[in-house]
Amino acid sequence: MYKYACLYTKPKSTREEMADQQRKIKIAIVGGGIAGLALGAGLKKKEHIDFHIYESVPAYKDVGAGLALHMNAIKAMTLIGPEVRQAYFSKAMEMGEEDKEMSTEVILAHGPNQGELVAELGKAKGRKTVSRADLLDGLLELVPKENISFNKRLEKIEESNDGVRITFKDGSEAHADCMIGADGIHSATRSFILGPDHPATEPKNHDGWQIYRTMVTSEFAREHINPKWTRTVPILLGPRGHINTIPLNKGTRLSAGVAVRGVKFGTKGEVPDLDPEMYKDYSEDAQRIVRLVARDTSASWTAADHDHAPTYYKGCVAMMGDAAHASMPFAGNGAAQALEDAAVLDHLFSKVTEPDQIGAAFSAYDATRRPRSQAVVDLARKFGRIYAYAEDGMHEDPTKMKQFFGGAAGFTNNADLQRQNDDAMKLFESAIGGDANGTNGLAPEGVEVV
Ligand SMILES: *[C@@H]1O[C@H](CO)[C@@H](O)[C@H](O)[C@H]1NC(C)=O
Ligand SMILES: *[C@@H]1O[C@H](CO)[C@@H](O)[C@H](O)[C@H]1NC(C)=O
Repeated sequence: MYKYACLYTKPKSTREEMADQQRKIKIAIVGGGIAGLALGAGLKKKEHIDFHIYESVPAYKDVGAGLALHMNAIKAMTLIGPEVRQAYFSKAMEMGEEDKEMSTEVILAHGPNQGELVAELGKAKGRKTVSRADLLDGLLELVPKENISFNKRLEKIEESNDGVRITFKDGSEAHADCMIGADGIHSATRSFILGPDHPATEPKNHDGWQIYRTMVTSEFAREHINPKWTRTVPILLGPRGHINTIPLNKGTRLSAGVAVRGVKFGTKGEVPDLDPEMYKDYSEDAQRIVRLVARDTSASWTAADHDHAPTYYKGCVAMMGDAAHASMPFAGNGAAQALEDAAVLDHLFSKVTEPDQIGAAFSAYDATRRPRSQAVVDLARKFGRIYAYAEDGMHEDPTKMKQFFGGAAGFTNNADLQRQNDDAMKLFESAIGGDANGTNGLAPEGVEVV
């Protein structure tokens, strides 16, 4: 049995009444980021589902965030539909590059083994970088306009015996059989599910990470840094921060960053300036990137992640993506985990034909996705420590580092996501007593319904 049943109390009495309930399952998705849009793109193909996405911002704006999607992200998109994968490819790359293998190269930029390549992360054919804004654009094209509203910031969630009532800050309301919160790291859905005072509700920056970052044109970057780093995705490691570049917008812009651990923030959270003088013992290539970033750090941000939530749902309300498991960006798998959530939920809802099956679907989702996505949160923290030369002398032993990254890549990148979907479905089917063949819950003729 699943932990939290929805509050549905409607008795199943006569066949007539049941037939009357054969209306569509109404799903409110709160949050139109990568997770919410990808799920919407899958749900729109299901005849028995009626969904609506409520996004808090009036329109998407390009904050210059770059993504280098790993193989598991691409596999998850493919499971939702080839058109979802295609939305990514058409935004992320020039034609004809789909067969080229790409990876994030992790290289030591400090110490006796300077220059050594210790990992190739997220190796995949057709892997390319994409700006978050471009990917959102691509996914948005897959969702019918009438099924998404902007400027809807979540204010209140109430459960009742006929579903979920959602109130937005603008005073408007929505009602649905269930709600899926994909409302990001500062999720109000998370606060509803865990409680506002739960220790895991608020994101935390345990290790004092600050990501100093700049956005420049690739042309400008080529004048200041080794041009090689305007075409690939390197992570250059050292004890006072790791340095990273990501080409964006089909190679016309570059996001360059220095991620520093253990930053001494001011009492009001003031961020100290990035001082290139501190990087004099790093490789020349790394130093040049630091100097480029220090010119203009206005695109910087303070990283945080979530401690483990004990559950990803309560009643008919679930959370997904960064709302459920925001992670540090260091393992390059945050968006991938959001897409895996979407793939599993999309698959489960293909068989949810009655409102009283929603609890079983959320329970199966929670059991399948929570352990794996939380392991990725832990893994990303560990990546950060290793990148910062802060994990038991690992940087002194590149072989050990290679083994670690190889194992980690196996866990994130090479996961069998078809199997993950199948496992979730098996849990769902056993919870609802086997009626998961899309028979819309009506017993065959002649069978007594009790
Ligand atoms: C999209 O929204 C319309 C209007 O609310 C609704 O009738 C329709 O079922 C929705 N489509 C899907 C695929 O959910
Ligand atoms: C679903 O349908 C398949 C094929 O018709 C059948 O083998 C399977 O037993 C059914 N599963 C359930 C849970 O009814």
